[in-house]
Amino acid sequence: MSEQKPYVIICSDLPETMDQLTLSLSRDYHLFCINRTDVLIETAVQKKPEIILINVIFNKADSIACCAQLSGNVNTADIPVIFISEVFDQSDTLAAFQAGAADFMKYAYHEQELKARMENHIHIKQSREKLVHKHQELNATMTKENERLQNLMIATIRAIVQTVESRDPYTSGHQQRVSDLATEIAMRMGLDHSQKMSIKYAGLLHDIGKLRVPEAILNRPGKLLDMEFDVLKVHPKIGSDILETVPSPWPLARIVLEHHERLDGSGYPNGLTDNEILIESKVLAVADVMEAMSSHRPYRPSQGVDLALKEINSQKGLLYDTNAVDICTQLFNQHDYKFGW
Ligand SMILES: [Fe+2]
Repeated sequence: MSEQKPYVIICSDLPETMDQLTLSLSRDYHLFCINRTDVLIETAVQKKPEIILINVIFNKADSIACCAQLSGNVNTADIPVIFISEVFDQSDTLAAFQAGAADFMKYAYHEQELKARMENHIHIKQSREKLVHKHQELNATMTKENERLQNLMIATIRAIVQTVESRDPYTSGHQQRVSDLATEIAMRMGLDHSQKMSIKYAGLLHDIGKLRVPEAILNRPGKLLDMEFDVLKVHPKIGSDILETVPSPWPLARIVLEHHERLDGSGYPNGLTDNEILIESKVLAVADVMEAMSSHRPYRPSQGVDLALKEINSQKGLLYDTNAVDICTQLFNQHDYKFGW
């Protein structure tokens, strides 16, 4: 018997009909014949047929229940079932269809019609399988392409970060360290995946607006004059304007705009208060202050992690988000968090 023939299971409780079906179908199909419905699912899982024929004379209820089980089983749900029964009345036929039957015929000896129906259902099944396969291939391609684009985006972001920081060597690595700490805080705060990604990438880019701040101001040793500080203070807005033009699934522009805002409205550039500031921006603000105070600057030496923690805790709930400060403090005091200098 050729391996190319479609596999078909015939389940019949009448030996004469089984013989007749075998005779008319064996030339075109690879047949498996059983006479009990209780082994039908097991046989179907094992043989993976293209179609199942159930011929019923005596066990109507059992065979309909078996059809329902086939439909409900993930391994057999896609196999079309054709009922053949001279004794089915209209309610039996309806029950069979409700149990998931694909088709119904009254007489097994209508050979040409049976074959035509079988071919139709086998064709539909195979077309559906091809479609599922194509869908899986497409999904795999899209996943690969998404990964490629994400890697490209990360490489681009890193290139931009390096450009920004090359003009400001004193803050080299600042954005990476802020991004790392902010992402860690966000994770422990239980923020969702999208918020964590927003914080990670906004962290990497939060000072991108410094590209437009003169190097003389960025690298000035000593405290900035008021006028110079005013120039520096435009960097969140410039950064936000730059990112506004980049399509992104995350609110990067808004987070960058808000990273110097403070809960009491004393921040810049818009003096927003608590409820007006995104939680992502509040987390980034805590990480930014922690990193900045812990690092050397042209105008002062590092103030150390302990002093930075003291500062954010003294302003907890006033300038900085309480939860973010508590989680950040736990990270350093209980989990030995270290900046990757
Ligand atoms: Fe900044």
